[in-house]
Amino acid sequence: MITYVNGQFLSKEHAVVSIFDRGFLFADAVYEVTTIINGRLIDFKNHMARLRRSCNELQLLLPFTEDELLTIHQHLIEKNDLNEGLIYLQLTRGNAGHRDFLFPNKTIEPTLVIFTQHASIIENPKAKTGIKVVTCEDIRWQRCDIKTVALLAASLAKQYAYSQGVDDALFVKDGLITEGSSSNFFIVTSDNKIKTRGLSHEILSGITRQAILAFAKEQQLIIEENAFSIEEAITAKEAFMTSATSLVYPIVEIDGQKIGEGKPGLLASRLRNIYIQAMSV
Ligand code: PDD
Repeated sequence: MITYVNGQFLSKEHAVVSIFDRGFLFADAVYEVTTIINGRLIDFKNHMARLRRSCNELQLLLPFTEDELLTIHQHLIEKNDLNEGLIYLQLTRGNAGHRDFLFPNKTIEPTLVIFTQHASIIENPKAKTGIKVVTCEDIRWQRCDIKTVALLAASLAKQYAYSQGVDDALFVKDGLITEGSSSNFFIVTSDNKIKTRGLSHEILSGITRQAILAFAKEQQLIIEENAFSIEEAITAKEAFMTSATSLVYPIVEIDGQKIGEGKPGLLASRLRNIYIQAMSV
């Protein structure tokens, strides 16, 4: 596998960063995950717009234009012969040469790392069977709108879900669902309204969320961006989650309780298909 590290294309054995890198020491870093379908980047512009926003929120320097980042992404897709999967980008505040909580007072070069991963996106079995989830307390920090690499809470939540024999976890704050451990969460009400948590510092503004809401609007569906309880989710007609790597996964069970008939919902499957069709033109 060929990776990109600070201006160089390197095999993964040679892809290393310093132990003094602030991404390693303080999670002082942001990231993006972009899907690749048929060798093409999906929603790249929106991912780069969010990256720029994350950087601005943390006063992190992004000394690359969108075109430069696009070129690196395209080289990696080619070099790794990636037809379907994902591409991961991480930008850190750089290597300060020692450990200090304060930002370095002299300008240092940020660290930029990019690599690819093969994955089954379109034909993933989970899209057909749906997934089971459990809820857990949202113990994350108060700026979940910034896509930082501080993902320990998400990792703990996924490990908890795994220990319970299910696929993933939903975060809950003050009795209300915020989002999935690495996805946005939606329900469909008995009168076919789509409900998802509104944007705030408490959730990530998902690129897939944005696309799915736009397609839902085109389909004349009514969308409500409001917080809702676990109870409301469990009694919903359908539930689903969205992310770059899953696109749309129907959710068939929450905390051991079936959603609807316990089968993937029609609307979730329809929105997934519409998204896939739109990507292939
Ligand atoms: N995660 N919410 C959280 C907490 C996420 O980590 C993600 C994405 C999303 C969905 O965002 P998008 O549609 O832009 O992928 C929502 C990525 C895929 C990850 O960490 O692997």
